[in-house]
Amino acid sequence: DTNDVKAFVEPYLIGGASDELNQNLAAMAESFAVTDDKIRDIIKEFHRSMHAGLAKDDPEVLPMIPTFVNRRPTGKETGRFLALDLGGTNLRACQVELRGDTTYDLVQQKFTITQEAKESRLWDFIAECVGIFLEEHDLRPPEGRRTIPCGFTFSFPIFQTGIASGNLSMWNKGFTVPNSVGRDVVNLTQSAFQRHHVPVEIVAVVNDTVGTLMTSAYSFPDTQMGIIFGTGTNAAYWEDLARVGKWAGGPGGEMVVNLEWGAFDNATRVLPYTMHDNKLNRKSSNPGLQVYEKMISGLFLGEVARNAILALVDQRLLFAGRSSVILNKSYTFDTAYMSEIVADESPDLDAVRTVLEATLELPPTTLVDRQAVRNVCTMIGARGVRLSAAAMSAVLLNRPELLAASVSVGIDGSMYQFYPNFERDLYCVSRVFLGADFVDNRLKLHLAKDGSGVGAAIVAMTVEQERVAAAA
Ligand code: GLC
Repeated sequence: DTNDVKAFVEPYLIGGASDELNQNLAAMAESFAVTDDKIRDIIKEFHRSMHAGLAKDDPEVLPMIPTFVNRRPTGKETGRFLALDLGGTNLRACQVELRGDTTYDLVQQKFTITQEAKESRLWDFIAECVGIFLEEHDLRPPEGRRTIPCGFTFSFPIFQTGIASGNLSMWNKGFTVPNSVGRDVVNLTQSAFQRHHVPVEIVAVVNDTVGTLMTSAYSFPDTQMGIIFGTGTNAAYWEDLARVGKWAGGPGGEMVVNLEWGAFDNATRVLPYTMHDNKLNRKSSNPGLQVYEKMISGLFLGEVARNAILALVDQRLLFAGRSSVILNKSYTFDTAYMSEIVADESPDLDAVRTVLEATLELPPTTLVDRQAVRNVCTMIGARGVRLSAAAMSAVLLNRPELLAASVSVGIDGSMYQFYPNFERDLYCVSRVFLGADFVDNRLKLHLAKDGSGVGAAIVAMTVEQERVAAAA
């Protein structure tokens, strides 16, 4: 029974461990537990916040940003487009060829975003990378044009003022580039292109969730939603404009709305928020903001786990009370290590040992140490998946009429791809709230790999078509 807190505690108790360790693991498991009833509360609060956000902009509720994307792809789109995808970890420059048969070819180059770029010279960094990409792939403006049209995927919240303009509402995921908040990110990028003589013109800017939705829709017309479970987390979905009270751009039709669900943070009272989350939150670059994201996404889960592990170390319940220089430093416990640890089912927990002793340079560990670390990681990961399923279910339940037909959801991101059993657990938890019949027979989750870039190309192509049609 997933309503009984006991069900969230018992699996984490260790035979042969001290009572004190087990009591602490039990208390910790209880604090990270998300019962079914709790998820029902979260969904209710999510709906309230979604509806308030659609009615008007209010920092207390979900941003619910109209994206100006109002045409579903048909899968028949053709052409070659440049796309630029600024994620939380990488910048990808892509050349996308839409083949008109629901498939596409992608040539891409990945650049790791440097710490310096995250903190200061982001716009110049982007221009330099695009310059390198154009040169290496020998790309030039098409006949009769001075610039190459480009779709820009920007995975931070912007209040869009048009399909190719939007003002940055805030940084998150550790970015802190100055003089950017409140300004038009397309302008900022475009000026950098000029400074670096990069002949590219951004004709559309989309959130990564919108890109993921569009890519999935190109191959699966029943796509209703795009989600990122990666460094950060967020989603976009099709909404009926009649229900978007704050939309001032004319009546009728539907539009993709970017929820910015990572910002579901006015609701800590319904969330299973712990002292370990609080510690992370307080020290982050955006305290009090993106609280939901900090409980779900790859940038943060390892840090929550590190805090929880250190709390046990400090009570001398792990590693005989010793830590290591590495483990003492913030953000050294990568979420990728969590994945390795949770996936380890070997009797001696050899992979856990490698992470702890070789990577984190802890003193020799006992089996109980390793079991306890694995249990801590598992409970924090499980909470993340349950909160992820809660958010996805809330968005689908917001339009219950959709649940009568088949629904595809395009998903991308490192948590979805690499966290052990993430997709299986997402289906499994959603069954409780969306109904077994719908989830087993009509819900399809698709990996839209690198979809955010392809989606930007699809939107750019639509914009170009409209331009051509308007000029004719
Ligand atoms: C953060 C950003 C959001 C983005 C998400 C996933 O939540 O605010 O715009 O979609 O990360 O990358």
